[in-house]
Amino acid sequence: MIQGLSRKFSTMGCTALITGATAGLGSEFAKQLAPVAARLILVGRREERLGELSASLKKSFPSLRLDTLKADLSLSSERLNLSSRIIREQIPVNLLINNAGLGDLGTFDTAEWERIAPMLEVNVTALTHLTHLLLPMLRAQSPSGILNVSSVAGFYPLPEMAVYAATKAYVTSFSEALRMELAPEGINVTALCPGPVPTEFFDVAGRNGETIRAMERTHPSLASTPELVVRQALIGLERDKPGVIPNPLLALLVRGSRLLPFPVIREAIRLGVGPKRPQKV
Ligand SMILES: NC(=O)c1ccc[n+]([C@@H]2O[C@H](COP(=O)([O-])OP(=O)(O)OC[C@H]3O[C@@H](n4cnc5c(N)ncnc54)[C@H](OP(=O)(O)O)[C@@H]3O)[C@@H](O)[C@H]2O)c1
Repeated sequence: MIQGLSRKFSTMGCTALITGATAGLGSEFAKQLAPVAARLILVGRREERLGELSASLKKSFPSLRLDTLKADLSLSSERLNLSSRIIREQIPVNLLINNAGLGDLGTFDTAEWERIAPMLEVNVTALTHLTHLLLPMLRAQSPSGILNVSSVAGFYPLPEMAVYAATKAYVTSFSEALRMELAPEGINVTALCPGPVPTEFFDVAGRNGETIRAMERTHPSLASTPELVVRQALIGLERDKPGVIPNPLLALLVRGSRLLPFPVIREAIRLGVGPKRPQKV
């Protein structure tokens, strides 16, 4: 039966595990949760950055408990190590923020498998695996929350971001179904679907070290700051919203476009009228 108990998940006093906490949206989640959370578990590959973020949060919020866990989420063994530690140490995680993710910009035929494979692993497999591994803990700590960082790219098939957009379509679809399954257990599930945000994302997504000037090519009214994206995401999760598009104009465009027949959208994308293609420097 898929009908709800009253769910009252709140970030107040939460224990949150944040993946991809070394940069961009992930470190912003840590900063915005720090004043209200009881404990944060910061996950990423760059240990030094995790240490720096943890030290600066500890300075501002001395009573906050902080753990840093170095993990390459593209590896199943490291995902298993991470969850074993949470369970062994009985860390009472009641908020899972599946934020780590990466893109690869360019045509599919010119893509290197060495870039596609980790993108699929991190964006899709790690998000699903960590949710599966930590669900017993989230259930035990209910009311709980799962915030999956998807993208507005997940609403459209995007040439030159074909695999990335498909991974985000997966994240949004998975999150919608999961929220229906978990609603009776007091576990909120929200998919965050931002448009362009100035983070390191476009540096990582550019091939051969090229910087992608996507932010410069994006109309300012469609972009959002990390601060706003994270604030809207946390509000949306607490209000048990299925999805959050943290920019009102983009939200309107996405909702409007979803009323159109798909062949119209396909043609618009084909003509380049859809989401702007990133330009190489
Ligand atoms: N920026 C945008 O325009 C935008 C728009 C829509 C959605 N998003 C989504 O937002 C999320 C956060 O991206 P961002 O914009 O903040 O990008 P970012 O600044 O590049 O941060 C990405 C984070 O993911 C982590 N990560 C990448 N590969 C990893 C791996 N193998 N193992 C562990 N962690 C890994 C990185 O940590 P380490 O490198 O230290 O491991 C980093 O902390 C992503 O899911 C992205 O798809 C971004």
